[in-house]
Amino acid sequence: MTELKNDTFLRALLREPVDYTPVWMMRQAGRYLPEYRATRARAGSFMQLCMAPELACEVTLQPLERFPLDAAILFSDILTIPDAMGLGLYFAEGEGPHFERPVRSAADIERLGIPDPEQELRYVVDAVALIRRELGGRVPLIGFSGSPWTLATYMVEGGGAKNFSRIKAMMYDRPDLLHALLEKVTDAVIVYLNAQIARGAQAAMVFDTWGGALAPACYQEFSLRYMERIVAGLTREAEGRRVPAILFTKNGGQWLDRMAATGCDALGVDWTTDLADARRRIQDRVALQGNLDPCVLYASPEQIRAEVARVLESYGRGHGHVFNLGHGITPDVDPEHAAAMVAAVHELSPAYHA
Ligand code: CP3
Repeated sequence: MTELKNDTFLRALLREPVDYTPVWMMRQAGRYLPEYRATRARAGSFMQLCMAPELACEVTLQPLERFPLDAAILFSDILTIPDAMGLGLYFAEGEGPHFERPVRSAADIERLGIPDPEQELRYVVDAVALIRRELGGRVPLIGFSGSPWTLATYMVEGGGAKNFSRIKAMMYDRPDLLHALLEKVTDAVIVYLNAQIARGAQAAMVFDTWGGALAPACYQEFSLRYMERIVAGLTREAEGRRVPAILFTKNGGQWLDRMAATGCDALGVDWTTDLADARRRIQDRVALQGNLDPCVLYASPEQIRAEVARVLESYGRGHGHVFNLGHGITPDVDPEHAAAMVAAVHELSPAYHA
């Protein structure tokens, strides 16, 4: 394997000394980039883009050609696992994801198999290997998956949900059924992430986009518990280096201390939590990744710089911070504004590591 030229991101995740705060953006390859829209048009659809390793590789690298980012993230989606389980994923134009065959009954759950990452999800791990080769050691590659709870919400609701009526009815009426589903999805996530790591992913991130919709006791029982099982099941060393595990629960700021106790290396933090407060609560047990409000990128480059300064100041001096947005970049952001954010992080952060 080619030597890694910039390992600042991996070192920050392990709270090792770095010269500046590394930065990447959730959804950094996406619709706000005209070159992404062009490749997606060539692919035909979003899923065809995900399923063609050469095209997935191409869009993964696009943001790195524009901005001096410190990490690449595999271009794919969290819904590849339920799709490979046979649920029939499709994206209706402008409507987000849907499943043709949602999971509603014990028989539906019984029928689900654990997808083989080298068969049904071969296109994902092939993309990982190709991206690693094309990166040539420029920056590390992040692999990812959805959390079992978040994947289950899409699987049971049949798509995006406003108030989680179906999955929460199942959770309160038939917790045994939901646990059976979460067990299977957890097994699928572990083999999927380990296959990404085996093919070259150098860090693994779990997106728990909907964990924050749960009451605290339910969060513990239906989301965190399964993420803890994932952390315990992950390959943590590859190519002679630790493979850091990052957990991100959107709207999960109040549970950061519990998340830090799972054995993960780092926590993603959204913009509703102050990083100084988060850091105090986790007592530097793990690194923190975040947390600029993505809407700051609608403001002028001067204001973006000021808000970057505020986030750096809230984390404060010392290591263990990876700069990111608090959630994915939105499709109507001006790429020049993303450039302003990345530049501000690189210019302003060395003072915090001196
Ligand atoms: O961060 C990256 O650049 C890597 C790529 C990535 C995508 N989806 C590409 C994508 C990642 C990490 C995801 C994760 C994902 N997908 C999550 C968890 C993260 C989060 O945002 O909370 C969720 C909930 C999904 C499910 C999903 N996929 C939704 C709700 C949508 C529709 C969004 C929309 O705005 O229409 C997608 C599609 C999707 N995934 C797009 C991209 C770039 C847009 C597809 C397109 O129209 O080109």
